[in-house]
Amino acid sequence: MSQIVILTGAGISAESGLNTFRGGGGLWENHRVEDVATPEAFARNPALVQRFYNERRAGAAKAQPNAAHIALTDLGHAFGDDLLLVTQNVDSLHEAGGSRAVVHMHGQLDQALCASCGHRWPSPTELEVGHACPSCGAPSARPDIVWFGEIPYHMDRILEALSQAEVFAAIGTSGQVYPAAGFGEFAQQAGAECHELTLEPSGNPIFDRVIAGPATHTVPLWVAEIKERFATKGRAGPGSDAPFPS
Ligand code: APR
Repeated sequence: MSQIVILTGAGISAESGLNTFRGGGGLWENHRVEDVATPEAFARNPALVQRFYNERRAGAAKAQPNAAHIALTDLGHAFGDDLLLVTQNVDSLHEAGGSRAVVHMHGQLDQALCASCGHRWPSPTELEVGHACPSCGAPSARPDIVWFGEIPYHMDRILEALSQAEVFAAIGTSGQVYPAAGFGEFAQQAGAECHELTLEPSGNPIFDRVIAGPATHTVPLWVAEIKERFATKGRAGPGSDAPFPS
């Protein structure tokens, strides 16, 4: 039972120095999706695709979690299994900020995937063309990233949590890419209250609340409000009826 489902996007990592995809200086301003983020691109020019992700992997490794990541970790401690943190991001800043059981629906930069046997293993910083799979030996290592045209991970689990959520919050995402862009509507149909926390609000009418601003400012305030609200309802999280620890 997830009382709260959170979906994060590139905006939550922006203040940690990682590029978003759309908007000024976004990744898709300097690269065509068709050249670096589809299975066809990888088949056509694997060296370009590996280089694109090697550069992002190196950048992500230098980034530090920010106050928004830390605040969501705090919320996770308060809610335990009653909170599901889903991210579209392929960096590991939620984990670096202390979050556990983060659901990476678009994969992770620090994982490699064998295109032949499906084996996953921790990715080296530089994944080269023809890198051999440690399990089957085939020279078919690729980034463990869900490319356009592929099916995002953990969808059953995500939809199950959304169907039971009291609150759904989209944080730092433009809501341009499905299926994530449809999570708000799905949650609202199941009775959830939908919040949007982002720098440039999407204008999607599905959101009951829109909190505009940088995530490092808005998310800690929002987390404090949610903790207070659920504590006063005497539902501090899984099983306990004690108010949140002060
Ligand atoms: N604080 C909060 N929000 C921010 C900040 C910030 N400091 N900076 C930018 N944003 C917001 C922008 O206003 C925008 O709404 O973050 C969002 C970034 O949108 P996108 O660049 O489209 O990133 P995202 O929504 O995560 O993209 C979704 O698209 O290309 C695919 O797979 C890729 O997972 C990605 C998906």
